[in-house]
Amino acid sequence: MSRLDSMLRRLTAQRDGLNWAVARTAGMAGDVLDMGLGNGRTYDHLRTAVSDRRIWVMDRVLQCHPSCVPPEKDFLQGEAEDTLVHLAETGARIALAHYDFGCGIKAEDMAEAARLSPLIARLMAPGGMIVSGQPLVGFAAVQGPEHIAPARYYFYTA
Ligand SMILES: C[S@@+](CC[C@H](N)C(=O)[O-])C[C@H]1O[C@@H](n2cnc3c(N)ncnc32)[C@H](O)[C@@H]1O
Repeated sequence: MSRLDSMLRRLTAQRDGLNWAVARTAGMAGDVLDMGLGNGRTYDHLRTAVSDRRIWVMDRVLQCHPSCVPPEKDFLQGEAEDTLVHLAETGARIALAHYDFGCGIKAEDMAEAARLSPLIARLMAPGGMIVSGQPLVGFAAVQGPEHIAPARYYFYTA
């Protein structure tokens, strides 16, 4: 499979997985957390799909498309280890989290996801959903949309 095909499949899984999790968490109390603002594509999708929840966004740098800059009060800039701890200390509870941190080097991205998992767990509302581009540890895996191949995207409940 070409890298273009692979990227298209990953982005399709990301979008469909987010839509699936938005529907699954409807009516549940809590905020949304997008980990990895990047260009702002998933943040833009989430703010379109979820209009009734606060959407927290994290990244070490603000480098998104100008149309996708989050409100200052909702953007937590810094290293994830620090911003996840800070968010937990605010008392925020997350009904829907999207994990999209990473640099594209699989081994490094998996190690980072494993290291951050306990910090994410502290934030989650009971029964909240985590949609992730990397495998996380310590959460219960759930079957996401059936057309998404295993390990293309990951789905968990807290
Ligand atoms: C794949 S991009 C996110 C793409 C974004 N979701 C989008 O749709 O445009 C990953 C982002 O995670 C950030 N990142 C990776 N590791 C991080 C860490 N440990 N702490 C904070 N930000 C991190 C990078 O700066 C980068 O912008």
